[in-house]
Amino acid sequence: MADHTMQQAESHYFISNPPPKDLKANTTLAREFIGRHADEGRRVVLVTSGGTTVPLETQTVRYIDNFSAGTRGATSAEYFLQQGYAVVFLHRQFSLLPFSRHYSHNTRSFLDYMKEEDGRVVVDEQHQEEMLRVLRQYAEVKRENRLLILSFVTITEYVWDLREVAQLMRPLGARAMFYLAAAVSDFFVPQDRMVEHKIQSTEEFSQSAVAGAGTKPPAARTEGRSLIIDLEPVPKFLKQLVDGWAPESIIVSFKLETDPSILVKKAQYSLNKYAHHLVIGNLLATRKWEVVFVSELEGEKWIRVPSNRRTKSFSGIESLVGAADPLTKDETSFAGSGRSAVP
Ligand code: PMT
Repeated sequence: MADHTMQQAESHYFISNPPPKDLKANTTLAREFIGRHADEGRRVVLVTSGGTTVPLETQTVRYIDNFSAGTRGATSAEYFLQQGYAVVFLHRQFSLLPFSRHYSHNTRSFLDYMKEEDGRVVVDEQHQEEMLRVLRQYAEVKRENRLLILSFVTITEYVWDLREVAQLMRPLGARAMFYLAAAVSDFFVPQDRMVEHKIQSTEEFSQSAVAGAGTKPPAARTEGRSLIIDLEPVPKFLKQLVDGWAPESIIVSFKLETDPSILVKKAQYSLNKYAHHLVIGNLLATRKWEVVFVSELEGEKWIRVPSNRRTKSFSGIESLVGAADPLTKDETSFAGSGRSAVP
């Protein structure tokens, strides 16, 4: 798509899909957070995490979801914090969070980590060491106020938040990084083609889309006994981020595929097309054990967890990524920090 057409698609998107109600509050928090850390000379990273939804109805009963537990984003955020970054963590509501991820979303209840001793609740002996380690890291980050947690649910909320935060980070130049691990919808239902109420299972009760809409039928509707879903493309906002919203920043995107034969080609295509710093490719089935870095500096580079370390207690492939970060070899990258910035 030509640049001016992309820009038109972007403006059309923001005009026809109104901002989420908590955008103002999120922006206020982000402005204060980014401004304070910029004044203190810290590098700031926006980590996006979790999947965006595509609602089919305004009063949403049904939606389409994008796969992501939030493990990549939450784990990476912890490593960025260890490296001294201030982190804006823009995540799908109720997906994994840095630090608390160690104790949530697994088959164990958090109460299993506790026991009663002399009428008081204490952490069970077998979890003391590990929990103390996590707690110390968390306490330090909290004391320094280096983690801002924002959330989204829908694709539209995500895109509005991304644009707003990117523009706030723009003055930081190369001291700002975008680490886009969220799984972002490529197709959606535009506001003016969305029905207000729950889609009915028979045509008899079907509604039209919102008043004043064009001639197109609702994007999700029943025809006979079938549910028809006719989605429209979401503009690739990565392009706008690189060219317009934060042109001086370091931008790392992810590429998720399921077919191994196209992963590297698609990652290279994305790197060439959007002209940013690094694409990290991963396959759905093996994402926890291997990733491929595709960058202009180093071409294609695989990072793999050795098979004997692929256990549940392994701290995650994110712990190996720092050593392989190709961007650190470029002095202009990551503000010439001379150390790994992709955790
Ligand atoms: O959370 P986990 O369970 O640990 O899983 C992690 C992960 C597999 C979700 C993560 O590692 C990952 O690959 N995230 C990116 C998923 C994704 O959206 O891939 P994509 O190939 O559809 O998009 C590629 C890039 O384009 C992404 O960086 C995305 O931000 C961007 N994009 C996508 C859609 C869109 N409309 N505009 C965009 O800019």
